[in-house]
Amino acid sequence: MEKRQELYRGKAKTVYATDDPGLLVMHFRDDTSAFDGTKVSQLAQKGETNNRINAFIMGKLAAAGVATHFVRLLNERDSLVIALKMIPVECVVRNVCAGSMAKRYGIAEGTRLSEPIFEFFYKSDALHDPLVNDDHLRVLGWANATEIAEMKSLTHRVNQVLKPLFADAGIELVDYKLEFGHAVSDPAGPLLLGDEFTPDGCRLWDLATQEKLDKDRFRRDLGGVIENIRKSPSALACRCHNALPRRSKRASAKRQKQEQRSRPCGRLFCSIATALFLHFLGCVLGVLGGVLGIHRRALGVLG
Ligand code: TMP
Ligand code: ASP
Repeated sequence: MEKRQELYRGKAKTVYATDDPGLLVMHFRDDTSAFDGTKVSQLAQKGETNNRINAFIMGKLAAAGVATHFVRLLNERDSLVIALKMIPVECVVRNVCAGSMAKRYGIAEGTRLSEPIFEFFYKSDALHDPLVNDDHLRVLGWANATEIAEMKSLTHRVNQVLKPLFADAGIELVDYKLEFGHAVSDPAGPLLLGDEFTPDGCRLWDLATQEKLDKDRFRRDLGGVIENIRKSPSALACRCHNALPRRSKRASAKRQKQEQRSRPCGRLFCSIATALFLHFLGCVLGVLGGVLGIHRRALGVLG
């Protein structure tokens, strides 16, 4: 597979053609954008972090039967994906009231919802992604009734897979946004999940403390990132471990020695898992922390 010319430069990713018209390269940049591109920053290591998180989550979803455009990781910042013709809507599922829903209906952020709520938004920065309903999609020709039903059921299915995955790690999946399309090579075929699933497009709260662990920290200029990393539980580490950016061998060895010295043998595996998980969150939050003036080296005690 050969990476060819740039096709599209989005707010955080760039898409390249390949020598196969059915495949694209999705390149994750360090750019972080909020409020329809009006607030933009470069965050060190964000691209590689999101590339790996996305690969991990897409793998989990595929294993659970949700068809996605993800093919494989190519390198630190590039993933190979199936070329899709996208439906121009964002599909949001909310487990907890937050963000635009809290504002729109005057409901306190953090209010638990008795069941997940689904919303469609029309993708348009110029119009600030307005909330739309099934009729808008159908009558304005953005999607037909079958596609609408499929997008809703796939977005809910993703909730069934990811909510427990995050909950096992002590993290609440508050809400998330998904985008779908048909493979350009199979326009009449099933919808595939496209774009990405990363902390840029979802809300994650620490279950115990309700601290925010996602891009809201960037949107809202929040601090206190490192404390959350240290408190976070280790369960996801066991699952994430293959998706994590690798530490240098020297750092890993130092870390392992410290663990062996300070903890009983029987807990060694758990300790390493904890370190990996903290590194995983450290990458996500560390880049956000950079913007907040919290240097990643504050994590030094973790290795
Ligand atoms: P909202 O509360 O701002 O409507 O956002 C709901 C979820 O969708 C939240 O997890 C963030 C995500 N989202 C995006 O990924 N991109 C967007 O452009 C917007 C508006 C929301
Ligand atoms: N991703 C969108 C933007 O860049 C909105 C957001 O996530 O806040 O502007």
